[in-house]
Amino acid sequence: MSKSLKLFAAIGLILASTSLAQAQDADAGAKVFKKCKACHAVGDGARNRVGPHLNSVFGRKAASIEGFKYSKAMSVAGSGGLVWNDETLAAFLTKPRKMMKGTKMAFSGLKKEKDRANLLAFLKSFSPDAASAAAPETPKKQEIAAAPAPTEPKAKPVAAKDAPIPEHGVFHLGRAALVEEVKAWDIDIRPDGQGLPTGRGTVAQGEPIYTENCAVCHGDFGEGTGRWPILAGGQNTLTDERPEKTIGSYWPYLSTVYDYIRRAMPFGDARSLSDDDVYAVTAYLLFLNDIVTDEEFELSNENFNNTRLPNEANFFADNRKEEPQNTARSEPCMTDCKPGKAEVTMRARVLDVTPDSKEGEGAGAIE
Ligand code: HEC
Ligand code: HEC
Repeated sequence: MSKSLKLFAAIGLILASTSLAQAQDADAGAKVFKKCKACHAVGDGARNRVGPHLNSVFGRKAASIEGFKYSKAMSVAGSGGLVWNDETLAAFLTKPRKMMKGTKMAFSGLKKEKDRANLLAFLKSFSPDAASAAAPETPKKQEIAAAPAPTEPKAKPVAAKDAPIPEHGVFHLGRAALVEEVKAWDIDIRPDGQGLPTGRGTVAQGEPIYTENCAVCHGDFGEGTGRWPILAGGQNTLTDERPEKTIGSYWPYLSTVYDYIRRAMPFGDARSLSDDDVYAVTAYLLFLNDIVTDEEFELSNENFNNTRLPNEANFFADNRKEEPQNTARSEPCMTDCKPGKAEVTMRARVLDVTPDSKEGEGAGAIE
């Protein structure tokens, strides 16, 4: 007999093990419990984790731990009368999803009868009322399935510190994104062309696509209709009081044009163009901006980097450590920067730093 079983015999508990063919070994069961540990706690101070705690699970009604968010299936089974005992636990643990369609316990099951028996002996050692648990009137599988609809379990509010940590993280938000989902979002294209999809399109192919999908807003020649953005022209206006910033006059990288159109245009119908269509429209915009002049010019992922936009050179990396005002002093002064004693000499409300309003009052003056 194992140590823990002896202990139970000593404190006078009768083990309801007669219905099981196999001899039960709680110590061996503790090893089997390692498979449950990722989600369940048992023993002193056990809390709900991904699954509910398993203290006193024998004789416990299914789905009865307050504050744990059970699946609908488990709640239905519980209100239909499912009580955990040797038989029901054995059935559940053999193949959780077979016994209970819709359970959120993501565990394939314990195939070996011996493992199940030992595990139950182990769990029983944390169920002081185990002796009374062999309830013969426990519903069988079919009855569980036929159980009445659940009354919404009225969970009492749980303090955040006691709330179970769901499988998908402590913030209780969302779930991990699928690889496919990340891939669908990961469409950015860098100035060096990294991220460009394979494809091609000519100026001539781009013209009808542009006319059909873009011209209503951006004008036949990229001049913009109404207050929609202008896409072409504006060269040599950057130093004007009102510069006209377009792809040709201002944008530094062609990759931004491709990326932006593919991601966001046509406005209201984003992602409706094929990658080839976007190459063609981008080529057409180069044509409207006089950056290419040949209607047969074909833009593709292969020659993409050969085309530079005219204003690229006016953009430079922000290398502020090397800017003159920063080279002299590598670390900015953070303490005792003013020589002598620092004193308050004036208050902002007196100094009246806020621009005057029309009435001549300080707009932010405190009365
Ligand atoms: C991947 C996580 C996970 C693993 C592994 C896991 N469980 Fe569960 N278990 C759950 C979740 C979640 C529930 C709640 C199921 C529901 O609401 O449908 C649950 C429910 C239960 C219940 C019902 C409890 C109640 O309050 O009604 C028992 C009993 C149980 N598990 C035992 C086990 C045992 C024993 C093992 C190991 C052999 C195990 N589980 C492995 C997540 C898990
Ligand atoms: C329904 C009107 C509409 C249509 C159609 C439309 N766009 Fe736009 N476009 C906009 C608006 C609005 C913006 C500005 C969006 C913003 O700033 O958030 C914009 C911005 C742009 C810009 C960036 C302009 C800049 O300088 O910031 C480009 C490039 C562009 N669109 C290209 C296209 C192309 C190519 C098509 C056709 C495939 C297209 N648009 C179809 C409304 C439209």
